[in-house]
Amino acid sequence: MTVVPAHTPVKKDGAERCLVIHPKLKSGGSRTRLPDIRLSEAVGLARAINLDVVHAEVVPVQRRRPATLLGKGTVERVAGLLAPRRNGNDRDGGNGAEEDDDAAKISVVVLDAALTPIQQRNLERAWNCKVIDRSGLILEIFGARARTREGRLQVELAALTYQRSRLVRSWTHLERQRGGFGFMGGPGETQIEADRRQIGQRITRLKSQLKSVKRTRQIHRHARRRVPYPVVALVGYTNAGKSTLFNAVTRADVTVRDQLFATLDPTMRGRDLPSGRTVVLSDTVGFISDLPHELVNAFHATLEEVCEADIIVHVRDIAHPDTEAQKEDVHAVLLELGLEDAVGGGLIEVLNKIDMLTPEDRENLVNRVARSNVTVVAISALTGEGVDSLLGALDDRLAKSAQLIEVSITLADGASLAWLYDHGEVLERHDDDRHAHLKVRLDTANAARFARRQKQH
Ligand code: GTP
Repeated sequence: MTVVPAHTPVKKDGAERCLVIHPKLKSGGSRTRLPDIRLSEAVGLARAINLDVVHAEVVPVQRRRPATLLGKGTVERVAGLLAPRRNGNDRDGGNGAEEDDDAAKISVVVLDAALTPIQQRNLERAWNCKVIDRSGLILEIFGARARTREGRLQVELAALTYQRSRLVRSWTHLERQRGGFGFMGGPGETQIEADRRQIGQRITRLKSQLKSVKRTRQIHRHARRRVPYPVVALVGYTNAGKSTLFNAVTRADVTVRDQLFATLDPTMRGRDLPSGRTVVLSDTVGFISDLPHELVNAFHATLEEVCEADIIVHVRDIAHPDTEAQKEDVHAVLLELGLEDAVGGGLIEVLNKIDMLTPEDRENLVNRVARSNVTVVAISALTGEGVDSLLGALDDRLAKSAQLIEVSITLADGASLAWLYDHGEVLERHDDDRHAHLKVRLDTANAARFARRQKQH
């Protein structure tokens, strides 16, 4: 058993005390992550929703118990940890007052695994407190962070779908199993039926609201795409440093917090590159491994910007012990979004947090970067080291993707001529009585925009 001592407790008013458990399953699939790392990630996620983590541990699980996932002994031992500590046992100093017993009570257990509804209910009964599984935890985080209307609707839809599936399954299994007796304090069959109906109605309403929000967003997006700048999307694992880099590059004031998922909705800001080209940077929500299925749509809703980006920058926390597995996760999601080209070498990889590396690791990294056949830039978003190289790499990429076009524009069409001078590099021009004949270099995004523009005329 590994016990990770909780760091300095961030005691906030009303913060519920919680215990985090990462079950280390013997048949844990192909994931390579070390259980301790998984545990600290789960602790980070719990803190992101303002839970006061007082204890966290990895628990080995020989085989999954259908009733409780964990073995009987573990369930009993955890129950002991959860009982209010008395007097001298209180971690916070134990001055023995009744008030402290209350304060010491752990009211939530986060179990970093997928629990069946039955397992969740049984554990709640055994421990007499709220139990949240990994899906529930991530749903809470998304709920707390969703800011746009679409983001909020998608998260609510995901939460209701998750809830409904649990109601359905707990009804069929639990209620039948128990001959309709029900469980302590739990809802009876009639209540569950009523809840299901209500949830179903709300889901239908949400879906139609979402449809109309999506329509409006399409209109907005088309409007924005007429803003003629290439879009650079920063993607990456949660806590990799995207917001910090975004700030360093745009000097904008977006929320940077040492919390997972500090950003859910994309934030966009403009910035001039060394060549004078303007790009728009888009900061996106952090990726996470084992994203619950019900959350995929909500997650994708926040990532649509990425699919439209001209350049994808993958920000990695290179100092994280699990950095390679994180990279795989991000690639897997990008593939799900249909971004094969990006994963196949089209993206720019940013190795962030090099300030945290030992001199040897740094040297190894520099060698690796030099050998890499994809564009890799080592930086520290915090100190600013390497950020200029990244801007240079963006410039190079845009220059490479530039297209040479030859067009003839009627002299009366001053707007198109001005557009080309603004957005491209006019290499040649000769005018006759009615037309200007131009040879212009445009980046891919602008070339496509120009083609669309000409069609509309
Ligand atoms: P999400 O919003 O959760 O997706 O996170 P993010 O990728 O936007 O990460 P964020 O910029 O919020 O940074 C997470 C933490 O890493 C913060 O505490 C930053 O100060 C820290 N951080 C970011 N870049 C660096 C860096 O280059 N070096 C060091 N030492 N810390 C960094």
